[in-house]
Amino acid sequence: MGRPVNTGSREAFDAAAADFAVLGRHLWEPVAADAVAVADPREGERVLDACCGTGASAVPTAKLVGRGGMVDAVDISAPMIAELRRRGEGLPQLRAHEADVTSWSGTGYDLVQSVLGIFFFPDMTEGTRRLIGMARPGGRVAFTIWRSGAMVAAGRQLALAVAEVRRTDPPGERKPHLIDRINRPATFAAWLRELGLSGVDVAVRERSLPMTPEIAWLLVLGSGYRGALSDVPPDSVPAVRERYLTRLRDAGIDELDATTLTATATR
Ligand SMILES: C[S@@+](CC[C@H](N)C(=O)[O-])C[C@H]1O[C@@H](n2cnc3c(N)ncnc32)[C@H](O)[C@@H]1O
Repeated sequence: MGRPVNTGSREAFDAAAADFAVLGRHLWEPVAADAVAVADPREGERVLDACCGTGASAVPTAKLVGRGGMVDAVDISAPMIAELRRRGEGLPQLRAHEADVTSWSGTGYDLVQSVLGIFFFPDMTEGTRRLIGMARPGGRVAFTIWRSGAMVAAGRQLALAVAEVRRTDPPGERKPHLIDRINRPATFAAWLRELGLSGVDVAVRERSLPMTPEIAWLLVLGSGYRGALSDVPPDSVPAVRERYLTRLRDAGIDELDATTLTATATR
């Protein structure tokens, strides 16, 4: 996820859904709890939760808006939405939808939020512009991304482990992407101002993930990193796991930077 571009395909997230929910306790839920606290959904509000996954932010948001409010939670992955429907039982104000949120037709939301989602859009600026347009004039938006450097070490060691096992050349640097320019508080805020938002504020939440072997492998299975395994024959996956864990140990990586930036602003 630190190198989200091209590793977070729909197929990768579909395959990851079950492990995604398990990893949630260690990563998605604490990250989302911080993001929701910053986004501050209020009782009675109508909220769009874009790229909702299994509901790490959508479920607590539905509780905060209460039965007088409403949350449209949208994700492109059917298994993610199926898991969210299970988790959302008893919350009639939470509506889970399987759809590409960049072409979602809902509008007029009091709050549009997306936790760790916008960098997966094929055109991040255009997709984010569309999300902003789904808020009512004067409504709020809240977008969470990884801070520069977060998650990177795990993705690099995984890619090298896959190349070793498959006996291919080590992967080169991926193509530069907009996210690499805007993943600091000042550049994130400037980009959102260019998209016409006002009152932009960026909250930094420092976090590190303990990289026990169990969590380190869960991070591969339960995130967009799973896409790196898509070309690995199933009987070679244990060898990739072994190489990846050995590489992490040899590099002395026993925790992973998982710091996020959450920007809030008014449309
Ligand atoms: C890293 S996960 C974050 C999920 C959730 N917000 C959380 O914090 O746990 C990214 C999610 O974005 C979804 N996604 C990516 N592109 C999407 C799109 N165009 N429309 C809807 N969902 C999308 C993926 O299926 C995946 O569930």
